[in-house]
Amino acid sequence: MTVPTLEVHLSPDEAGAALRRDARAGLSADEKWLAPKWFYDARGSELFEEITELPEYYPTRTERALLHEHAADIASASGADTLVELGSGSSEKTRLLLDALRAAGTLRRYVPQDVSKSALEAASKEVAAEYPDVQVHGVVGDFTTRLHQLPGGDHRMVAFLGGTLGNLIPSERAEFLRGVRDVLTVGEHLLLGVGLVTSPSVLVPAYDDAAGVTGEFNRNVLRVLNRELGADFDVEAFEHVAVWNARDEWIEMRLRATKKMVVHVPELALDVHLDAGEEIRTEISAKFRLNGIASELSDAAFALAECWTDPDERFGLLLAEAV
Ligand code: SAH
Ligand code: TRP
Repeated sequence: MTVPTLEVHLSPDEAGAALRRDARAGLSADEKWLAPKWFYDARGSELFEEITELPEYYPTRTERALLHEHAADIASASGADTLVELGSGSSEKTRLLLDALRAAGTLRRYVPQDVSKSALEAASKEVAAEYPDVQVHGVVGDFTTRLHQLPGGDHRMVAFLGGTLGNLIPSERAEFLRGVRDVLTVGEHLLLGVGLVTSPSVLVPAYDDAAGVTGEFNRNVLRVLNRELGADFDVEAFEHVAVWNARDEWIEMRLRATKKMVVHVPELALDVHLDAGEEIRTEISAKFRLNGIASELSDAAFALAECWTDPDERFGLLLAEAV
């Protein structure tokens, strides 16, 4: 059996320091916020997998159908020997790309990268077992800071799926796209899966499901703070809120305090005062218009090669080339 290699670009100490920095900034701001990458401990990654199977959460199945339909085109257009995937999670949909690249005869290496060590380890093992002819090289890391440490290849394609681009705020997004472009050489590819602007009656339930899984996922960030920073958030006293922000065209996820409280965060020597009804913003999920994302790509020195959408135009799969 082939054994995947696992490289750690984000040690527990560095992750701890980054969490303390983020939590201090976000919890002492006037409008409180927490950064989304802290959702994804082992339980958070499992809850996200449950989200992907919810009837209301259309992005995963829509993107899977697009990959299914167009993987062969993507493989031949890119000719990639190395597939790098950022925020790879379970690598479930990625198998469609791996199959197509293998059938095209170009694939040598798969480099999944994720902050969630547990998800990455499990996915790397499974992929290595299923694709014995492919070198699997997992990287535990943060795609907002450490892209330059990713391994090279003769011809790489960087996949960034699941609409995760929309979880970055616009300034981070521009920086991210330029960062990806910087590590690529001219002619290499970026494959991007993004949620498109669609009806709020479709969007909102995808982020506020009837079974309450998304709420559990959202509250998980408080459990992470309780465990990692010794905080005493009364997790059940927070309500999950998902709203469509029509001006910025993004879904906002928040946690609303159902009562007045003081939360102690000993590792930060910080007391957080929350009024009844006060909200902490935990995540945005921006939705895109095709001309908008095309111009963001071109601002980052990518040329759009192909763009596919589902018949309802809820999701877009874009193949771009570094120019
Ligand atoms: N690509 C998968 C998972 C999407 S969920 C899919 O399409 O289903 C977002 C993934 O990105 C999670 O696995 C999460 O752990 C990871 N992630 C979130 N922020 C990250 C960051 N800053 N750096 C690296 N990975 C991150
Ligand atoms: N990338 C996913 C998305 O924006 C992440 C996600 C799905 C998410 N559901 C969520 C993040 C709920 C926070 C809360 O669609």
